[in-house]
Amino acid sequence: MVHAVNGVVAAGRGAEVSVETILVPDPGPGEALVKVLACGVCHTDLHYREGGINDEFPFLLGHEAAGVVEAVGDGVTGLEPGDFVVLNWRAVCGACRACKRGRPWYCFDTHNAAQPMTLKDGTPLSPALGIGAFAEKTLVHSGQCTKVDPRTPPEVAGLLGCGVMAGIGAAINTGAVGRGDSVAVLGCGGVGDAAIAGARLAGADTVIAVDLDRRKLEWAERFGATHTVDARTQDVIESIRELTGGHGADVVIDAVGRPETFRQAFYARDLAGTVVLVGVPTPDMTIDLPLIDVFGRGGAVKSSWYGDCLPSRDFPMLVDLYLQGRLDLGAFVTETIGIGDVERAFEDMHDGRVLRSVVVL
Ligand SMILES: NC(=O)c1ccc[n+]([C@@H]2O[C@H](COP(=O)([O-])OP(=O)(O)OC[C@H]3O[C@@H](n4cnc5c(N)ncnc54)[C@H](O)[C@@H]3O)[C@@H](O)[C@H]2O)c1
Ligand SMILES: [Zn+2]
Ligand SMILES: [Zn+2]
Repeated sequence: MVHAVNGVVAAGRGAEVSVETILVPDPGPGEALVKVLACGVCHTDLHYREGGINDEFPFLLGHEAAGVVEAVGDGVTGLEPGDFVVLNWRAVCGACRACKRGRPWYCFDTHNAAQPMTLKDGTPLSPALGIGAFAEKTLVHSGQCTKVDPRTPPEVAGLLGCGVMAGIGAAINTGAVGRGDSVAVLGCGGVGDAAIAGARLAGADTVIAVDLDRRKLEWAERFGATHTVDARTQDVIESIRELTGGHGADVVIDAVGRPETFRQAFYARDLAGTVVLVGVPTPDMTIDLPLIDVFGRGGAVKSSWYGDCLPSRDFPMLVDLYLQGRLDLGAFVTETIGIGDVERAFEDMHDGRVLRSVVVL
């Protein structure tokens, strides 16, 4: 059976997104059909629409979602209809060179559904990050479904599927922030604020939030920023150094992903400190750094794909922290919206009016 449902489609580079009827097949071997309950609007969806990720239009957008399994295909174990799940874009293969070496969070061959979802005329859709969840139903690989405690409201559970996990993981997994560390976070959107929350969870004492927008800096304080730097009016590198005894921060997380913020991150960290790039640059961006500084400043320059997370390990753990009142996932949700409001939510995100708009289905 094929399910005709509404989905948010980006037809071409820079074109406004629209709600279209899409066709979702029943799950084949290893696949799962999921009734989506909520899906957050992440900046990466906007990158897709602008052609900043690749040119494989039309895209079915949305990838930060929670829902209920409606059906599973042959051979699927450990997942059944009715399970409450967060969708992930890292269904590890267990067989690639990274998985075999015991580092599955780098898995180079993650699983997605084998069958395509299509437009009514049969045109195959490219689901954002292999998910495509601004849709009433979506088809994924069963490994992309991570079961979590069903007491969690879907609009907050879904956030773990991308931005919040990416930010928390950038601090905890990639940056390995520890007790007493100083941390600076450049860009306080959903991802940056999650990095701030993660740094606090890991025991950082100084947590510096940097943004161009005053409102974002106020919100960052709610997630645990101890200091704020207004990048419009203050020198970012000097300000971070001043707030860290003149040295720079132990870990600096770039949650914007532009050459200018990466350069600031590089020079705002202490000697032997760590830079974590979690914001996603576009293919045209380049950076020029004196090689002597790369060598002489020591430490590590790392990028963080999905917060180096393992969904099966990290999603249930973060849900537990939420249910215990130790991680305020609800504070990320500025508004809940309908499936027809994604284009407006992109504008609000672009203009800095929201942290996360979450489509509720
Ligand atoms: N690595 C991953 O796995 C991963 C996962 C999800 C999202 N991302 C990426 O993370 C980035 C942030 O995503 P988001 O959803 O939080 O976006 P967002 O648009 O909500 O937040 C970006 C923030 O950066 C601020 N900003 C922009 N330019 C700045 C500058 N020069 N200096 C300081 N602040 C600046 C903006 O004011 C805004 O508050 C995006 O590039 C997104 O694609 C990466
Ligand atoms: Zn693998
Ligand atoms: Zn995302």
